[in-house]
Amino acid sequence: MLHKNGYWSLLCRGRKKKIVVLTVILVVLLNCFFYVSLELYNTIRRKEKQPWYNSLQFDKNSYVDESGMRVIVGHYVGGTNGGNLSEEVIHKNNYAPVPGAGEGGRPVQLSQRELITARELYSLHSYNILVSDKISINRSLPDMRSDKCKEVQFDLENLPTATVIIVFHNEAWSTLMRTVMSVLIRSPAQLLQQIILVDDASDRKYLFEELDEAVAKLNKVKILRNPERKGLVGARLMGARQATGDVLVFLDAHCEVTIGWLEPLLDRAGSDDVFICPHIDLLSEDTLSYVKSIDAHWGAFSWRLHFRWLVPSGEVLKKKSENPSKPYPTPAMAGGLFAVRKSLFWRLGGYDEGMVIWGAENLELSWRAWQCGARVEITSCSRVGHIFRRHSPYKYPGGVTKVLYANLARAAVVWMDEWADFYFKFNPEVASYRDQQSVANRIELRKNLSCKSFGWYLNNVWPQHFFPTDDRWFGRIKNEKGACIGVTVGTVGLGIPAVGIDCTKQAEFESLVVFTPEGKLMVDEGLCLQQGNGRAIWKSCSDSSKQIWEQKGPRLKTQDGQCLTLVVTKNMHGIGDPLTSKRCLTDDKQIWHFERVPWR
Ligand SMILES: *[C@@H]1O[C@H](CO)[C@@H](O)[C@H](O)[C@H]1NC(C)=O
Ligand SMILES: *[C@@H]1O[C@H](CO)[C@@H](O)[C@H](O)[C@H]1NC(C)=O
Ligand SMILES: *[C@@H]1O[C@H](CO)[C@@H](O)[C@H](O)[C@H]1NC(C)=O
Repeated sequence: MLHKNGYWSLLCRGRKKKIVVLTVILVVLLNCFFYVSLELYNTIRRKEKQPWYNSLQFDKNSYVDESGMRVIVGHYVGGTNGGNLSEEVIHKNNYAPVPGAGEGGRPVQLSQRELITARELYSLHSYNILVSDKISINRSLPDMRSDKCKEVQFDLENLPTATVIIVFHNEAWSTLMRTVMSVLIRSPAQLLQQIILVDDASDRKYLFEELDEAVAKLNKVKILRNPERKGLVGARLMGARQATGDVLVFLDAHCEVTIGWLEPLLDRAGSDDVFICPHIDLLSEDTLSYVKSIDAHWGAFSWRLHFRWLVPSGEVLKKKSENPSKPYPTPAMAGGLFAVRKSLFWRLGGYDEGMVIWGAENLELSWRAWQCGARVEITSCSRVGHIFRRHSPYKYPGGVTKVLYANLARAAVVWMDEWADFYFKFNPEVASYRDQQSVANRIELRKNLSCKSFGWYLNNVWPQHFFPTDDRWFGRIKNEKGACIGVTVGTVGLGIPAVGIDCTKQAEFESLVVFTPEGKLMVDEGLCLQQGNGRAIWKSCSDSSKQIWEQKGPRLKTQDGQCLTLVVTKNMHGIGDPLTSKRCLTDDKQIWHFERVPWR
């Protein structure tokens, strides 16, 4: 056998050798290229393959955004509560852990047969209960913290103690117990004063003796039971009144905390002026795998007061990258998970007891905190996984709309000042609840605490907000051809191609635009009109100069002097036709009428 080198030198010498070597390199590169393409193709294919539950109906206001963050709405949408399932199925605890299943936060895959059952049972909890029942309530989870967070040393002796309050209503046994066990396993014993479970009038049988027995075996855990449904606010208050720890830590009943989750919360909550939230990761509702959510997000809300995760301001991101273990401010909290010093919680008026069941209490609490001298923050060092459900599986006494609108109306009336008028003006379905609220004591509380205005909140806590203000232009921008600038709500921030929209329906949000003094054309959901490659697109508002438009007479010009143009192709008004930026011409497709609309 010839040695490799010998073989080569035998075959070719000098220039020939170079050519052969080059050819070999080329072949290798081509192979690599082919392989990478194949991988890419497969990845895309994998992404395209929709999970089975996508065929199910879900809250149209929730979606997964480009970064994998489940963008949720702080709303209940009624579920079928078991559909046609038998009483036996509904009331039975089927927890039967399979060794190894879901360990390390890995996904659990089901057989074809099990998938069919899972689909049938889905409506019970709006997550995959079959998978939950296979995973040990003690399962292991990865350490999701960044290296910077792991470095932080806490002086456990000097941290305040915690009472963890978990409210549940017909939660699955395995999910609830996994929430409890994760707290017990992963909290330093000296910091965990107690866990209070509050049963908000569940009727699933497995949540009675069976739960009592399981809890009796655990230290520090007790159950309070509401004979009548009070809702999240009432039940959490019930737990808070019995808390003996220094800090109240509220958790949803379908969470799993990871190592080191409690210390950063207690460390920050100790300062007595802050509501501190953990970084919320995702527990897949399908496989219960633990999925890291994007690193920087904060909470805010849309014109309809739907809670939204958004990208924080550039300034906050900069500070965060300089000091990743430091908590950062957020305009609003999602509401499910947060910690607050007990004394601060009560000093600021606890929760608004007039809010029934669920919804809007997170916004009310966030506004109250900020406006009344406290703060709301997120610490990336405390990582908690949470199952985000597509819709709520629960029943609502009094009906979804009524409950929700009443809560929203309360929050708006008490805290939003002029923006309450904006909210009610453009949400007429909620407006009818405005005068039905007895909020005298909440308004008195606001006076007692000398709380600041909503205008102060928008300017100082959320300067990037997309609400109208007195120094912003607000109204409809209509093309000479008839169509308006606008976007249909519910779409995602990837960059939606902008088209002319129908603006004959006067009360519709879709055609309302905020035009800021700096030249941003903003619509609801924090989207800004951006000059794309040819097409204009709707994208999350940012510092990009491509989002700056200058009004020159009836024209809207980009930074490089092009004109916003409605490319009329389909019909004479240009509804559904593309918006682009083009060379400025004497063309009526570039002529825009600015119709101011009073915002309050
Ligand atoms: C329940 O059963 C009835 C009658 O068999 C059927 O009409 C209905 O669609 C079923 N509902 C669900 C949620 O499966
Ligand atoms: C979970 O862990 C606790 C504490 O280590 C142990 O006592 C208990 O038996 C475990 N339970 C299960 C179901 O593995
Ligand atoms: C406001 O302050 C007064 C006087 O201290 C007190 O009597 C009243 O209960 C307070 N009201 C609320 C809602 O906190």
